Amino acid sequence: MPDGEPNESFVVTPYEVKGRIDYARLREQFGTQELTPELRAKLQLVAGGDLHPLIARGIYYSHRDLAPLLDGYANGKPFFLYSGRGPSGPLHTSHLVSFDLCRWLQARLGVPMYIQITDDEKFWARAGLTPEETRKWGLENLYDILALGFDPKRTRVFFDTRSIAAMYPLAVRVAQKVTYSTVKAVFGFTPSTNIGLVFYTALQSVPAFWPSWAEGRSVPCLIPCGIDQDPHFRVTRDLAEGLGYPKPALLHSQMVPGLLGDAAMSTTGNAADNALFLNDPTKTVERKLKNAFTGGRATVEEQRRLGATPEVCSIWALWRTRFAESDQKFAEVTQGCRSGRLLCGECKGQLIERVHAFYAAHAEAREKVKGWAESTIVTAPPRPD
Ligand code: TRP
Repeated sequence: MPDGEPNESFVVTPYEVKGRIDYARLREQFGTQELTPELRAKLQLVAGGDLHPLIARGIYYSHRDLAPLLDGYANGKPFFLYSGRGPSGPLHTSHLVSFDLCRWLQARLGVPMYIQITDDEKFWARAGLTPEETRKWGLENLYDILALGFDPKRTRVFFDTRSIAAMYPLAVRVAQKVTYSTVKAVFGFTPSTNIGLVFYTALQSVPAFWPSWAEGRSVPCLIPCGIDQDPHFRVTRDLAEGLGYPKPALLHSQMVPGLLGDAAMSTTGNAADNALFLNDPTKTVERKLKNAFTGGRATVEEQRRLGATPEVCSIWALWRTRFAESDQKFAEVTQGCRSGRLLCGECKGQLIERVHAFYAAHAEAREKVKGWAESTIVTAPPRPD
């Protein structure tokens, strides 16, 4: 932790997120660029006139090298998308932040999407999970991701333990460029870290270079991800040139806060009620949302008089990231909250309705992808090495 102020400290790494995150400061610590209004406007133009709410509402707020990638696209040089998931359990709504945006970008720009499922990583990183479990969750998570509406013809999946024969020839080239002192410094590994994790970052780089390697020409890559994943891709970007591949561009989102008020919707600490899982039954969804941490006041009278604070509220975060169906609805919730017109009970009730509607539609879409999900998994290298 570079920070000396104990009451302001926070930690964001791929393996730990805690504290109250100061996102502007995190961006400075990581050395990423701000997603400016000009750059948003450029994306809007390329995407055909409007912006995805995740971008318009500021959840994506940071990037690396997005401008040249968009300029390239506008001048006829297509790119591909890459994002991933470490399958430690069922997907929760915060995982949709990267895949919702990717799905939209794929639909708007007609670009290929590569999804990595890192069942190996989660077995190495999380005590108490067996390889059978992470592999099982990997497939379950993949169904959920594909069901968001990815195009079967343009979507390919690296499922680490199942795709390793395809990935390995490229992984050995990547791993040769990564030193132990780099990963130790970047991820904070200690002598008791298992050696699986020491090697793992090489595998997370592979999809970023795959099309360039497979096609023998330079194919640019855009990675939408939570900003906690940036350390992996700093390594990827540093070694890209040495391998003769373009550095991947990145688009970073803020973390979605947990329902119990934590910095991120995560269940690493085993608090299942901190996250809204896509497989939570109706009653559980209701219970979790009713008990969720809000920015409300101690009494109704006070809230009517003083208003509440959306920025700290886990319910507002859900409206913001996915469930407000229009800018108008989002503004209505935000202003209603701030002014004291909209009380927490009413707000939660409206949100619960929308979550139920999404879960019902999603369950149906999920059944349909099962017929083709397996066919997206890459199992062979593009050519004999
Ligand atoms: N390491 C990520 C996780 O723990 C999974 C992942 C693999 C990923 N490749 C990615 C995430 C690319 C974002 C972008 O969840």
